[in-house]
Amino acid sequence: MEKTKVAIVGMGTVGAGVAKLLLDHGDRTARHAGRTMWLERVVVRDTKKTRRVDLPSGVLTDNLSDVTSDPEIKVVAQLIGGLEPARSIMLELLESGKDVVTANKALLAEHGGELFDRARDLGRSIAFEASVAGGIPIITSISQCLSANAITSLRGILNGTSNFIVTRMEESGAAFEDCVREAQELGYAEADPTMDVDGSDAAQKLAILSHLAFGVRIHWADIPRQGINDIETADIRYADEMGYRMKLLATAQLTDSGLQMRVAPMLIRKGKPLAEVRGAFNAVSVVGDAVGRVFFHGQGAGQMPTASAVVADMIDLAVGRTQLTFRTLELFSQAEARVEVCPSDEALSRFYFRFTVDDHPGVLGQMASILGGHKISIASVIQHEREGDAPVVPLVVMTDLANESAAAAALQEINELPTVSRGGVRFRVTD
Ligand code: NAP
Ligand code: HSE
Repeated sequence: MEKTKVAIVGMGTVGAGVAKLLLDHGDRTARHAGRTMWLERVVVRDTKKTRRVDLPSGVLTDNLSDVTSDPEIKVVAQLIGGLEPARSIMLELLESGKDVVTANKALLAEHGGELFDRARDLGRSIAFEASVAGGIPIITSISQCLSANAITSLRGILNGTSNFIVTRMEESGAAFEDCVREAQELGYAEADPTMDVDGSDAAQKLAILSHLAFGVRIHWADIPRQGINDIETADIRYADEMGYRMKLLATAQLTDSGLQMRVAPMLIRKGKPLAEVRGAFNAVSVVGDAVGRVFFHGQGAGQMPTASAVVADMIDLAVGRTQLTFRTLELFSQAEARVEVCPSDEALSRFYFRFTVDDHPGVLGQMASILGGHKISIASVIQHEREGDAPVVPLVVMTDLANESAAAAALQEINELPTVSRGGVRFRVTD
């Protein structure tokens, strides 16, 4: 059988999973590729470090030129995180004639334009299915399978770590920091988990998907974003009491004025598909004008789900499928935007507010009057009895539809009341 030599650069969580699939399931990959996918080299920084996979002798090297100078290695999975040296290594691989697979969304969201242009100039291809939603084939689905559609809406849970943390907090009341540590141990989190919990990772993925789905050109940092680090266990409990779950949602909605984009924790009514996505699972709900709503669900982080997407990309490159579409698809092209991004300030939503207030007569009335002054109607209120001698009580308000700027202004005004002892929090609510 014909043999395609492949290599891996970076042998962390994902790299080890890719090596396992190639080494332990060669029959499977050969059947789908119509050739043996032969793991020739694995490049690491430190060849002495213990790795989570047994490699055949002679495969491990700390010298990238063992890959770049070997013309028989055609496909390389570049699985190191961060921007540098990931960017330089990617360029070096492309210059040396390799087709490259990456799972690094931070790199694509920051330098996608440069890398894709260079690949096109060199006649090379980049495959990046694993960069968004781990094992879910969302890149191929949006850029190829749904190409007959005008996509009008995209809503997703795109960060496995955040969803894992919020699920753990909800199920067991575990502390935020403990859940972050657990997500790191399980291999879900980025090397610096700040990007996971502050919404940056989800914004990078939303920027990539929206580029493909809508043809917008937006830098991920310009997407309004809020992370799960603003959520307290109390919010998860109150959401539950009102029939909702907290989820970090990434949304892109086409409107008459352009594309509204946002990453933020939101309350979603229990029973809705996105509300029931648990643990490190991801999900994406896409609406196309011909197909209607399509829902994708699967493991969005973790070693083997991510390796599943990387190896499929390696096979597609080895057989030449990716090369057929890479040049023609509008992937990270510098072409003019088809759709402009519009401010999301005037987007209507219901809101959840939680305030910590003095337990005095008239406090609830003051708040109701401020909300009313901003034309925000109250849908429901929760105020439990004061616990013990505590001088303050939490007050939770759920509103009817209101616009973003009115909700922000009302929150600021309420926070200035002398009876409000801690800054209130505000989250969007979606049915
Ligand atoms: P990781 O466990 O931190 O592994 C990264 C590996 O890259 C480490 O083994 C590191 O080496 C290696 N490395 C760094 N610089 C290198 C260099 N100059 N030469 C060779 N190796 C180098 O990260 P990961 O979780 O596997 O993630 C890899 C990429 O996949 C990231 O971009 C991440 O965002 C993306 N991703 C991860 C997941 C997931 O669930 N983990 C899911 C989807 C996408 P040392 O071992 O020597 O430190
Ligand atoms: N850290 C990322 C997450 C990995 O938790 O979703 C998958 O991209």
